[in-house]
Amino acid sequence: MPQIRRIGILTSGGDCAGLNAVLRAVVLRAAQGDGIEVVGIKQGTAGLLARPVEAATLDPAMFTGTLLRSGGTILGTTNRGDPFAYPMSDGRKIDRSEEVIEGYRSLDLDALIGIGGDGSLAILRRLAVQGGIDFVGIPKTIDNDLGHTEVSIGYATAVGVATDGLDHLQATAASHSRVMVMEVMGRDAGHIALNAGIAGGADVILVPEIPYAIERVAAKIEDLKSQGRNFALVVVAEAVKTESGDAVTQSQSGGGTTYGGIGYYIAEQISKATGAETRVTVLGHLQRGGTPSARDRIMASIFGVHAVELILRGAFDRMVAWSGRTVIDVPLADAVAAFRAVDPKGPMVRTARGLGICLGDA
Ligand code: F6P
Repeated sequence: MPQIRRIGILTSGGDCAGLNAVLRAVVLRAAQGDGIEVVGIKQGTAGLLARPVEAATLDPAMFTGTLLRSGGTILGTTNRGDPFAYPMSDGRKIDRSEEVIEGYRSLDLDALIGIGGDGSLAILRRLAVQGGIDFVGIPKTIDNDLGHTEVSIGYATAVGVATDGLDHLQATAASHSRVMVMEVMGRDAGHIALNAGIAGGADVILVPEIPYAIERVAAKIEDLKSQGRNFALVVVAEAVKTESGDAVTQSQSGGGTTYGGIGYYIAEQISKATGAETRVTVLGHLQRGGTPSARDRIMASIFGVHAVELILRGAFDRMVAWSGRTVIDVPLADAVAAFRAVDPKGPMVRTARGLGICLGDA
């Protein structure tokens, strides 16, 4: 069994609520009896590329106050700058992985914990294999699309925010007799849309996993009108495509594109087909920040404690996970390789149909 004195930890990929709660759990567990020091690495792998390396010891005393309750990550993070294809200012992409590994070694750590989604955990695993780093992953992503775990940190809070969004929109929709279209994040998975739509009483939910026909959506809205309803709530996942199959994306400063804007297309189509007055809300990054829900704090605590215990047992190249009402751990390679989309035949879709929610089925 390796002698563990110092563990490094970093947050990588898009932020979400509950990351500070994970850091807290790792630091508090490491301090129990074993007296392990935890070193927080700044800005994901960017902190290991910097010279001097950007990292600082995380003292348990830091976590007695507000951090359990706060959104974001005190370590900072990035979802850009893959060290295996690092974007240079002249447009070239170069492999800087050895510099990251060298930065890690300079910290004299015995193991590394990475908190990330599928993309960042895959990169961190590749670095760990190349550099012989003893690594454990903790899943976080509001998209909840990682395989082999039922939940990832941040997801429950994002669903809560989107549900609150529908609660707010319902009142104004009914006051103005409007169709409110709310676009939510989730990347290529419709979990946030489907779950928040059910929790928030949506009439229509469109997810990328289920092709839609706008006539079906329009028919649902006409049907509600004929029953005397003066408003409707429509939830659209950001990766839903136009009827001609195009994704709606936005170019971002610093390069790359992200999903965003399909809600406007859907609202326009609904308006054309039904004559209804429509308005659009793109929830965007509201779903990522804010106070972590109780559920996310609990999962963060469970995952953080389990990750340290894996390290103490010498069990590496694994990801902590939640399955069947308990914490487990799975081979990291399997987890990052298994994208988990909404199952069109699964219980959430069946529930939505059972409630009479229109999924737009083409
Ligand atoms: O993966 C998390 C996520 O919030 C997605 O739901 C969304 O598509 C994307 O990240 C947005 O990325 P960015 O923070 O770069 O705008």
